[in-house]
Amino acid sequence: MGICLKGGMVVNADRSFYADVYCENGIIQLIGQNLDIPSDTKVIDVRGTFIMPGGLDPHTHMQLPSMGTVSSDDFFSGTSAAAAGGTTMIIDYVVPDKNDASMFPAYYEWRERAQKSAIDYSFHMNITSWSDKIAAEMKQLTDNEGINTYKFFLSAKGSLMLADEKLILGFEHCRKIGAMPEVHAENGDMIEFMQHKLLEQGIIDPVGHPLSRPPKVEGEATARAIMLASMVDCPIYIVHMSCKDSVSAVRRAQAAGIKVFGETCPGYLVIDESVYSNPDFTFAAAHVMSPPYRAKEHQNTLWNALHAKTISVVATDHCPFNNNQKALGKNDFTKIPNGCGTVENRLEILWHFGVNTGRLSANEFVALTSANAAQIFNIYPKKGRIEVGADADIVVWDPKKEKTISAKTHHMNVDFSVFEGITVKGCPVYTLSHGKIVYENGQLCTQKGDGQYVKRLKYTFK
Ligand code: URP
Ligand code: ZN
Ligand code: ZN
Repeated sequence: MGICLKGGMVVNADRSFYADVYCENGIIQLIGQNLDIPSDTKVIDVRGTFIMPGGLDPHTHMQLPSMGTVSSDDFFSGTSAAAAGGTTMIIDYVVPDKNDASMFPAYYEWRERAQKSAIDYSFHMNITSWSDKIAAEMKQLTDNEGINTYKFFLSAKGSLMLADEKLILGFEHCRKIGAMPEVHAENGDMIEFMQHKLLEQGIIDPVGHPLSRPPKVEGEATARAIMLASMVDCPIYIVHMSCKDSVSAVRRAQAAGIKVFGETCPGYLVIDESVYSNPDFTFAAAHVMSPPYRAKEHQNTLWNALHAKTISVVATDHCPFNNNQKALGKNDFTKIPNGCGTVENRLEILWHFGVNTGRLSANEFVALTSANAAQIFNIYPKKGRIEVGADADIVVWDPKKEKTISAKTHHMNVDFSVFEGITVKGCPVYTLSHGKIVYENGQLCTQKGDGQYVKRLKYTFK
């Protein structure tokens, strides 16, 4: 039986128009007025709402082993929470072992873990060491397994960080095999230097976290990564940008014709670094992620960068840890597991603080939450567009509906919300994944295993 969404306004990244949308067999079949649909169709009256492409969150870490523990959402709880927030696809990061280990065991492990996803998913691969073997495996993963993006770390010295000589080889290789590098752009040498200094001075509390990774650390690494990639003629994607310094590096490069894409996260747009000086360790530690939340003055620059298209994607970097996990760093801020859980809140935060304030149009909202990521990661218009033939991954959005965000009521498996107490106006009323309702007016109806693995084709660079 098909579903028809009747009476709403379709909002794509490029235009909006009133139309009914009929979905069957997981696909959008018809869009228009007075549709000729089967008599047994489930017709849903969605007058007063926006019918938008379901969110595509291209940066998540479900059940990620990290810093001596594992992020607290698994692929079912995390993707269910995503659906409750209007997101219908995630791209998660596979983390292989270091020291030249094959990437395939990790890839298969992530495929196995993700079997229980409630919505569609795909993978990026972290590059944690460099060798001819890794290079050969990257080609296999890109040719055969649908992975066309590889994340390189300029931070995390002693674990994930790669030296420039390896980055150059890695970026050049991405270009060759039709893949795109992504970078975690913070200067790992400088972070280590600052962490030692701070600990020597007796600064062990979470306040040391932003002090050890100031904006310059991000600006330097962003500019360096972009320049290295451009010198081997390779497009590059900068994940989780948080500050003016990285925005100006990206803006400068784009103005010079260099192909670089920027991503930021909802928290960076609305939360500032004062959270780290809170005397309550639990509260401060719950905000520890990298890069850290910044001084308020950076937020305006990020909003402007969204409007100016310097940054084209808002992702979450969802990586939740419970308060007892964060306590691993009680006596040393460098040991606090890095990450926050926000996969459920991305759309509502961006709508409330972006669209309701007039900073963004509804069309820009769609671009930032799905369409741009679908294009950048090569799965458009299967994802990211309300169009006949596209996957019926849809969020029906009520711009008048209000809700107060709280860890007590959210669906993420984490006991803290960095957005606790914020009342947002504009929420999903229905989320459809492959034409099936997975969220309806506060009720989750996701099923384990309904999500499908989405292979992403390699790029054909000119
Ligand atoms: O603090 C963060 N961002 N944790 C997740 C891992 C990463 O670097 O994206
Ligand atoms: Zn990162
Ligand atoms: Zn991340």
